[in-house]
Amino acid sequence: MKIVTRISELPHDVGTSVGLVPTMGGFHDGHLQLMKTARAERDLVVVSLFVNPTQFGPSEDFERYPRDRDKDAALAKKVGVDILFAPEVGEIYPRPGTTVHVPVVSTHWEGASRPGHFAGVATVVCKLFNIVRPEVAYFGLKDLQQCLVISRMVEDLNIPVRVSLQPTVREADGLALSSRNVYLTEEERQLGPLIFQQLTACKQLLHSSILTHDQIDEALKQSKVKLEDAGFRVDYFELIELATAHSTRSTSMPTALIAAAQLGKTRLIDNILL
Ligand code: PAF
Repeated sequence: MKIVTRISELPHDVGTSVGLVPTMGGFHDGHLQLMKTARAERDLVVVSLFVNPTQFGPSEDFERYPRDRDKDAALAKKVGVDILFAPEVGEIYPRPGTTVHVPVVSTHWEGASRPGHFAGVATVVCKLFNIVRPEVAYFGLKDLQQCLVISRMVEDLNIPVRVSLQPTVREADGLALSSRNVYLTEEERQLGPLIFQQLTACKQLLHSSILTHDQIDEALKQSKVKLEDAGFRVDYFELIELATAHSTRSTSMPTALIAAAQLGKTRLIDNILL
């Protein structure tokens, strides 16, 4: 595996089918699964490792975000990655530049709680697509709204990249894998799976019979209360339609239950497709 820090060192016009896995490092099995899928499907696998400053708010965890390039490189090598692209900030952002704003799907939830976050994500992903020029880019559905933002950007800007969305990888007890899970204390780690348990219980309820809008409201509220009672500070627990990432009370189109909650100093997000 080659580690590359400069855009000019990346191969161009390689004539192979390139798969890109964009990451910010702190590799866990979720990242490794994306890399393995890319390895199985594409001729050349490029993983980008870049903690993107523009997607972090001023009071967020940019400084303390897990960074261990050697450990990440060893893990990527093990699963057969060809190129680890690990640029410095100045290589990606040589000057303040153009920002990509994706409408509709980025306005609520993470977009509302983390102003500027999705503009940072869309901008860096658009740049990575132009730099690496993959045929396919792989993302985990754990960050569902991010997946909707990137898919919408690709569609709106006619970017010639296929976005491949892969299932969330979970711990045995249901906790969605995330680089931020390392922030959890032992006690918080025990509580973590409750988010997925509530999402699952709510999904079962929505599937068990046709509920009125008020009954759906009540089911969402009950899940929120259970999480709050256990010690989470719930930001949202909602039913959204995938086309817009806005709230819905109808399950006749593709929808998902989404949740975000603060546990101590850690913000956890998760979702379940209906
Ligand atoms: O999901 C992530 O790790 C990041 O948001 C991404 C897509 C690599 C953009 O920085």
